[in-house]
Amino acid sequence: MPHCNRKAMNEMKQNTTGKFIVFEGIDGAGKTTQIRLLEAYLQKKGRRVVCTAEPTDLPSGKQLRRALSGEEPKTPCELAALFTLDRIAHNMQPKTGIAALLESGNDLICDRYFYSTLAYQGSETDPDWVRSMNLNCPEIRHPDLCIFLDLSPEESMKRINSRPEAREIYETRERLERVRAQFHAVLKTFDPQSVRIVDAGKSIDEVQSEIQRIVDPILK
Ligand code: TYD
Repeated sequence: MPHCNRKAMNEMKQNTTGKFIVFEGIDGAGKTTQIRLLEAYLQKKGRRVVCTAEPTDLPSGKQLRRALSGEEPKTPCELAALFTLDRIAHNMQPKTGIAALLESGNDLICDRYFYSTLAYQGSETDPDWVRSMNLNCPEIRHPDLCIFLDLSPEESMKRINSRPEAREIYETRERLERVRAQFHAVLKTFDPQSVRIVDAGKSIDEVQSEIQRIVDPILK
């Protein structure tokens, strides 16, 4: 293919590829609510949006849920590898995977991604190994934007305790404290333009307005 055609094709591909936005936060930070609001905001702008999450509903994700509930205990390395495997499967599923959806022009909002593995599993096993396995994997796409909803462990525990669902293994105060610190350490190592920290202690509307202000410039 002549050089100019290839350039034009690349530009076209870039223009038609959707945006990949990840939400992260310690448990109780309000990801679910804010993701739904952002989805509605993007749809109102006429964009096609798909919301997705990790762990997935694929076999690897189901295995992870059994591990997280304590039903099928796993070592920290097994968990790190399994979360990474689940992420690869999430990326590579034909038609419904991250790569396929973005390439067919959908925006993707994902509840948790590799930042979670770096923070949670990275604090329980070798962080360099966990980081390299995720960031250097050719089948794990890097997001356009990561929004970290930041909340104090006190407020997080209050919110978690008011929920009816059973607690998962990560939801103890000491652990939340450690994971939050670990998240901050991990986020610092990324380009500050692509990883944004939002104060999730504010009202739902205030948090959403801030998110929209951050997302707007990447939509162009
Ligand atoms: P989930 O029920 O999806 O909770 P939440 O609404 O808080 O996201 O459970 C996900 C749990 O899995 C959460 O406690 C964090 C943990 N997790 C990891 O430890 N590593 C990971 O890579 C991911 C994606 C999640």
